[in-house]
Amino acid sequence: MSVTLVNVTKIFTDHDDKNKEFTAVDNVNIEIKEGEMVTFLGPSGCGKTTTLRIISGFEQQTKGDVYIDGELVNDLPANKRNSSMVFQSYAIFPHLTVAGNIGFGLELKGMKKAEIQVEVDKIMQTMGLSALGSRQPSQLSGGQQQRVALARAIVNKPRVLLFDEPLSNLDAKLRDQMRTEIRRIQQTFGITSIYVTHDQAEAMTVSDRIMVMDKGIIQQLGTPFEIYSRPTNHFVADFIGRANFFSGTVTKLDTEVTLLVNKKEYTFSSFNKDVKKGKSGTIVIRPEGLRITDPSPDAFYNGKVSHAVYLGATMEYEIQVKGKIEPIVAISYNPVLEGFHKVGDEVGISFDSVSAHVIC
Ligand SMILES: Nc1ncnc2c1ncn2[C@@H]1O[C@H](COP(=O)(O)OP(=O)(O)O)[C@@H](O)[C@H]1O
Ligand SMILES: [Mg+2]
Repeated sequence: MSVTLVNVTKIFTDHDDKNKEFTAVDNVNIEIKEGEMVTFLGPSGCGKTTTLRIISGFEQQTKGDVYIDGELVNDLPANKRNSSMVFQSYAIFPHLTVAGNIGFGLELKGMKKAEIQVEVDKIMQTMGLSALGSRQPSQLSGGQQQRVALARAIVNKPRVLLFDEPLSNLDAKLRDQMRTEIRRIQQTFGITSIYVTHDQAEAMTVSDRIMVMDKGIIQQLGTPFEIYSRPTNHFVADFIGRANFFSGTVTKLDTEVTLLVNKKEYTFSSFNKDVKKGKSGTIVIRPEGLRITDPSPDAFYNGKVSHAVYLGATMEYEIQVKGKIEPIVAISYNPVLEGFHKVGDEVGISFDSVSAHVIC
């Protein structure tokens, strides 16, 4: 089922001072396709949960329209929208067994006991819970409880699955496992899903598309590749992973863009539409897009290694360049082949144009 938001805005008014207004969600437009998994990603307080609650019907938007499968649901209460939310706290019933928890919604719908058992068995098998059917929630690990919560949501065959930071209570290793599992289950059942997180690695792993938000406003809506490698602005580039920014002046612009940076010209084929000739532009290069060489007049920049950390698989560097406040961050993914540099070494930095993207 598709989910469409048209100009959705949420303005909260202050409890004590009715004249004080706060825009939590600001004119959000998005079309989520049938079977798609979209993540709302952004810092705490940017409006992710509020947007999700508007879709579920737990929150009423101030302006705009919500459609589920083409049907306008603005006036439809939460329990009629047929969306299932998987919360951060698992909210499974402590007095029911695993099977009881999973079958609870079906029982409410008045389904016969024998039919419930068939449905519950099927879902428990798919999700690796078969051996745990008669356990109490207190006898389960965090990851297992999370899986029960997910099974309970899916067994009701919801039109849309909504996740609000479902893994934030789990330890790092389990979180990695569960996010892969959530994605697998979502794809197996083909359920349209919306996933809220502030964790960019999680967003990259589970999403078909990512909607990056800041202060209630969509900053970018795109595939993980577009978000990481073709960020629309400084905020997105900085929020997703690490990025180096080099500003200069746009000297040429046609199918490619040329920038004058550090007294030399560089040409790129990847750039944003709002980049203008004669104006300033910024080259965005990820740490893995930079190469460290011997110092040279031909280098993009020359500088001094101020930090070098050997992580086995990779070597991470910070390089201080004269007149640049922020150090340049570079990662070598094959240090044995590319050579080791130590703190204090004078080095040059270069890049391939294909590894860079230009924003304004
Ligand atoms: N019921 C409410 N009344 C007033 N302000 C709220 C309410 N719910 C959320 N907010 C505010 O709206 C903003 C967005 O909140 P939220 O959607 O929960 O952010 P996120 O999930 O991205 O962390 C925050 O500044 C929050 O304080
Ligand atoms: Mg939230």
